[in-house]
Amino acid sequence: MDKLLITGGNRLAGDITVAGAKNAALPILCAGLLTAGDIDLHNLPQLQDVRTMLKLLRQMGLRVEINGERAQLNGAMIDKPEAPYEMVKTMRASILVLGPLLARFGEARVSLPGGCAIGSRPVDQHIRGLQAMGAEISIEAGYIHARAKRLKGARIVTDMVTVTGTENLLMAATLADGVTVLENAAREPEVTDLANLLVKMGAKIEGIGTDRLKIEGVASLHGAEHQVIADRIETGTFLCAVAATGGDVTLRNTRADLLDSAMDKLREAGAVLSSGADWIRVQMDSRPRAVSFRTTEYPGFPTDMQAQFMAVNVVAEGSSNATETIFENRFMHVQEMNRLGANIVIEGNTAIVQGVDKLVGAPVMATDLRASASLVIAGLAAQGQTLVDRIYHLDRGYDRMELKLRAVGAQIERVS
Ligand code: EPU
Repeated sequence: MDKLLITGGNRLAGDITVAGAKNAALPILCAGLLTAGDIDLHNLPQLQDVRTMLKLLRQMGLRVEINGERAQLNGAMIDKPEAPYEMVKTMRASILVLGPLLARFGEARVSLPGGCAIGSRPVDQHIRGLQAMGAEISIEAGYIHARAKRLKGARIVTDMVTVTGTENLLMAATLADGVTVLENAAREPEVTDLANLLVKMGAKIEGIGTDRLKIEGVASLHGAEHQVIADRIETGTFLCAVAATGGDVTLRNTRADLLDSAMDKLREAGAVLSSGADWIRVQMDSRPRAVSFRTTEYPGFPTDMQAQFMAVNVVAEGSSNATETIFENRFMHVQEMNRLGANIVIEGNTAIVQGVDKLVGAPVMATDLRASASLVIAGLAAQGQTLVDRIYHLDRGYDRMELKLRAVGAQIERVS
């Protein structure tokens, strides 16, 4: 099993190119199920979750050609509208095939995802929304079995804001009979990116980027060409790395307007940030100041940045609180950071961080994707060597992270 060996203490300087967004790429690949036409994608990130999704889609009969960051999809030959447990258990985002399969083929069989490291993460809202659109859904032997000759437009108000729930229902509604209104829709940029692709494919969607999406179903969708948006979480992860270690790094192929809230907090922490249309520069020459935050839906502070920002706060001057409101169990990095000398106490859904002068490297264990990223940042800021174990979590969502960090001066290597 691969590990990352980090020798901390280096200042980071140089350029990093950010990849396409994982959480946009995954639903966008599933949109390939909605049409018999060709989908031509650019800026596809090269990471494990994308490979897993492509494997699942190929199994259903989607034709896929990959050439670096370019992918061509064709869904003319899909013959197996099914997502088996073996695939879904490794990647919950597999649930995103449910809406498109049901809408185009009138039937889908998708394994129910189990619990996961960061919380219980049910998919009841996906199911309820499809039922409101006329689907007959039964749960048998751990599988969601959904049927509908043709879905019907409906007004759907989800109980909470759900990102993949919105994406599933949005994709389903594009081919439904009549108008669907999704109230309380997620406004995450990845949802917007998917909606923009769907419009290029011939979908009729109003309210893109708002919490009310109105979709007028069409009989069929056609092929399209699309560039996946930049990964705002990868961007934020590197910004936090520089804030924790000090340095001067320019991130390319990304957009500042995708992460206003995290950038505001980094400015409060003392980082100097500047940006242009497709780049962000971060300069940090002092010890960070502690900054409290609370995770919320977009455009608020993202739960996917909570752990990485905490890695800044642990070495900051002063104390801070990080309150997690989206997932009930997303503090698993805390115990590991404390092993490096951090001073963090958890009370309910808040982590109280007292900044320390220094961290000292130690072996640590990654438990989920963003927790892994936060341990890498902590390792970069620590004195001595940190060995991050179980980095398969990191590889799920970061495109060659250690190479990018090494290019800006970090001492980090992959060891088996
Ligand atoms: N929820 C329900 N029922 C549902 C759906 C959601 O109770 O039917 C709850 C969840 O348990 C959670 C909250 O609603 O407490 C929000 O969950 P959401 O559905 O928005 O999460 P998701 O769609 O499963 C996506 C990202 C996550 C990211 C969250 C929140 C993808 C593939 N995943 O998950 O990304 O943390 O939105 O922004 O888009 C990551 O990249 O590391 C990651 C975990």
